[in-house]
Amino acid sequence: MALSVENVSLKYGELRVLDNVTFEVNEQEFVCLTGPSGCGKTTLLKIIAGLITPDSGRVLLYGRPPSVEHGEIGFVFQEDALFPWLTVKKNIAFGLEIQKVPREEINKKVEAYLELVGLKSFGNYYPQQLSGGMRQRAGLARALAYGPKVLLMDEPFSSLDAQTRNELQKELLRIWSKEQKTVVMVTHSIDEAVFLADRVVVLTRRPGRLKADVPIEMPRPRERTEPQFNKIRQQLLKMIEPELREVGGNKEAY
Ligand SMILES: Nc1ncnc2c1ncn2[C@@H]1O[C@H](COP(=O)(O)OP(=O)(O)OP(=O)(O)O)[C@@H](O)[C@H]1O
Ligand SMILES: [Mg+2]
Repeated sequence: MALSVENVSLKYGELRVLDNVTFEVNEQEFVCLTGPSGCGKTTLLKIIAGLITPDSGRVLLYGRPPSVEHGEIGFVFQEDALFPWLTVKKNIAFGLEIQKVPREEINKKVEAYLELVGLKSFGNYYPQQLSGGMRQRAGLARALAYGPKVLLMDEPFSSLDAQTRNELQKELLRIWSKEQKTVVMVTHSIDEAVFLADRVVVLTRRPGRLKADVPIEMPRPRERTEPQFNKIRQQLLKMIEPELREVGGNKEAY
């Protein structure tokens, strides 16, 4: 077991955000987390990362409470959080420098991860000189470079066009199987979840409770045109729709 979320509840002041959420993630499993806007997904991801402490319940990462200092977690944010004043290379090196990794090793790792995400010839570019998809790749390289066991991703592809998004999903699967990471990824896209995940965890509208925990039993590579793909998609949509209806949520987003 890599990660266990046990009866996690949280309020922001009077606002109940998460209510008794429980699920587990196995080592090297790819889990997608979905649910209506405002149901507490980002909050839950921050709790898993050890950035926020829940009011009750707990998170265990390899049997102990998560801590940013353990370096076990890589975080990829929704809006790429690259430092605009640093080149791609220096962005990737940043976490390693903080950990006081020797310079030679940093250089090697930076080159290796640039290559892994397909940005080999863009290391000396600044973020504003890259496309959105390239910035997401750089963000992924930065999160992976210091070797976290668990990768937490908060809607990493939501700002991308459909074509780039599909391409990056395939890249992510390639990297995931090569690097053998445990992944928890928040997404609003059921299509994305069915394409990527071993399991999809669905939260209700706020306060977020566990609505369903659905295994996607389909071999990879998955084809979106396969009947089975559509069947699972519809099954998930049916679960989420009532959650959206009652808050007037945006069904089109799914
Ligand atoms: N720091 C904060 N202080 C107070 N309230 C907050 C804070 N962060 C989030 N919230 C509230 O908690 C609720 C859940 O927010 P969160 O960002 O976790 O939702 P989400 O599921 O990630 O939504 P989205 O899908 O829109 O990203 C929201 O109602 C939000 O207003
Ligand atoms: Mg969010």
